[in-house]
Amino acid sequence: MSFPTQRPRRLRQTGAVRALVAQTRLHPADLVLPVFVREGAVEAQPITSMPGVVQHSLGSLVAVAHEAVEAGLGGLMLFGVPTTRDAVGSGAVDPEGILNVGLRRVRDAVGDDLVVMADLCLDEFTDHGHCGLVDNEGRVDNDATLEQYAAVALAQARAGAHVLGLSGMMDGQVGFVRKALDDNGFQDTIILAYAAKYASGFYGPFREAVESTLQGNRATYQQDPANATESLLEVELDVAEGADIVMVKPALPYLDIVSAVAQMSPVPVAAYQVSGEYAQIEAAAAHGWIDRERVMMESLISIRRAGAQIILTYYALEAARLLRPAPTA
Ligand code: PBG
Repeated sequence: MSFPTQRPRRLRQTGAVRALVAQTRLHPADLVLPVFVREGAVEAQPITSMPGVVQHSLGSLVAVAHEAVEAGLGGLMLFGVPTTRDAVGSGAVDPEGILNVGLRRVRDAVGDDLVVMADLCLDEFTDHGHCGLVDNEGRVDNDATLEQYAAVALAQARAGAHVLGLSGMMDGQVGFVRKALDDNGFQDTIILAYAAKYASGFYGPFREAVESTLQGNRATYQQDPANATESLLEVELDVAEGADIVMVKPALPYLDIVSAVAQMSPVPVAAYQVSGEYAQIEAAAAHGWIDRERVMMESLISIRRAGAQIILTYYALEAARLLRPAPTA
């Protein structure tokens, strides 16, 4: 019998010591809040499967943008929920489409105090719910979709988005959109590429949030959850095509991918804690089975520890307030 000579517990003995040696920290500026804006809404509407998350009216959207600035968030990622949809997602291109109107309103309100991001995809705007255009055989047509993405990109850049979040998983989308932006004077518009995006059941509650009409699935364009190395190829291609930031999505079930991408990416890496990850925490907490705040912060620090520098999370405002308590009056 001998007593230990190595005592790792020494560095765990007080909160102050633990804080001193903590290797990972969260900061409000790392956090991006995804927000939904609904055409025609006069007030914010709850989303049943995402307690605490709402479909915003234009008014409540602007209010949350101001809150985001006050909380010191990194940015807002906007999603539009239109009232009418068609085969080609015209509403995403229309300057009067809800997402473009929302972008303009937010940008007017916050200027450059917050990074304003737009989801660049067609699924919220198509009647079939796919992220791209569908051909006569019902297949998602990659190259026809690229032309439409370029048009959406210009509409969003004109509406004032600082960052375009390309989430459609079409091959070549980053290069195609980059060229369209550059050719039209938008050299400074930033591209955040959803580089490694998996065909995930964890997007379930999001479909309610955007009132998705999708029948079937996205398995022909989003990645197979069984695969890891193709994420590295996706990241390499997106970086070569001009991605300024790359993202892995979902986050917590894919921390191995976050870690592998963080090790090889020459550009900043983001991860998206998606709707189903949020809903899991909320549902368990509502039953009293987990400590909601603790699990919320633990999930975020874990995503950060795996190597994501930027985190998109529905908890962004709440987490930022915990990280930086408001000064008491
Ligand atoms: C596509 C898009 C989706 C999400 C973000 N962008 C849905 C999908 O790919 O099916 C999901 C986000 C979430 O679940 O929180 N526009």
